[in-house]
Amino acid sequence: MSAVEIRPVHGAEYEALGEIVVNAYLHDGFLTGPDDPYAEFLRDVGSRVVGAEILVAADSERVMGGVTLVPPGSPLAQLAGPSEAEVRALAVAPAGRGRGLGAALASACVERARELDAKRVVLCSQTTMAAAHRVYRRLGFERAPQLDWEPVPDVLLWGFALDL
Ligand SMILES: CC(C)(COP(=O)(O)OP(=O)(O)OC[C@H]1O[C@@H](n2cnc3c(N)ncnc32)[C@H](O)[C@@H]1OP(=O)(O)O)[C@@H](O)C(=O)NCCC(=O)NCCS
Repeated sequence: MSAVEIRPVHGAEYEALGEIVVNAYLHDGFLTGPDDPYAEFLRDVGSRVVGAEILVAADSERVMGGVTLVPPGSPLAQLAGPSEAEVRALAVAPAGRGRGLGAALASACVERARELDAKRVVLCSQTTMAAAHRVYRRLGFERAPQLDWEPVPDVLLWGFALDL
């Protein structure tokens, strides 16, 4: 396998990336099924790229994962205030996991947020997303309970934040 790089998604990759993200969430039981209402957002890379920067982890043959960095002021923000960036839809295909790709994608978001002059990076995550929590904490994110929220009844999302 050739070297993996972290780079902006190409137009020809939108569909493949959308499937990778939905399948990554499904694989770990983080969606109720392919028709879960949140799957539509995760799959629709073409719409997401309008209000956000989408990065992929890819080698010369295939995309293995991706992440969405919502810049300050974007309507795609769920939690971020005016001078904050937000990380959304981090996912790596099961076959590519455990090699640091998730960490590299999240770290690239933090770097990009710094370049955009964001004061803080925020995100929310299901309480059972243990691998993601490990990635975020290793980068310095801390739990931010004031950002916790329930998108639908009985689904609690934990907030995390990193001051820049
Ligand atoms: C979260 C995710 C992107 C991580 O991808 P990855 O490429 O495997 O990430 P990395 O290799 O950088 O690191 C994974 C870390 O999680 C740890 N990990 C994996 N499974 C774990 C588990 N069940 N419990 C705790 N830690 C776990 C690994 O040990 C590793 O940490 P370490 O290097 O300190 O040992 C991937 O698991 C995924 O796509 N999950 C489903 C979608 C999701 O949860 N997204 C988060 C949205 S907020």
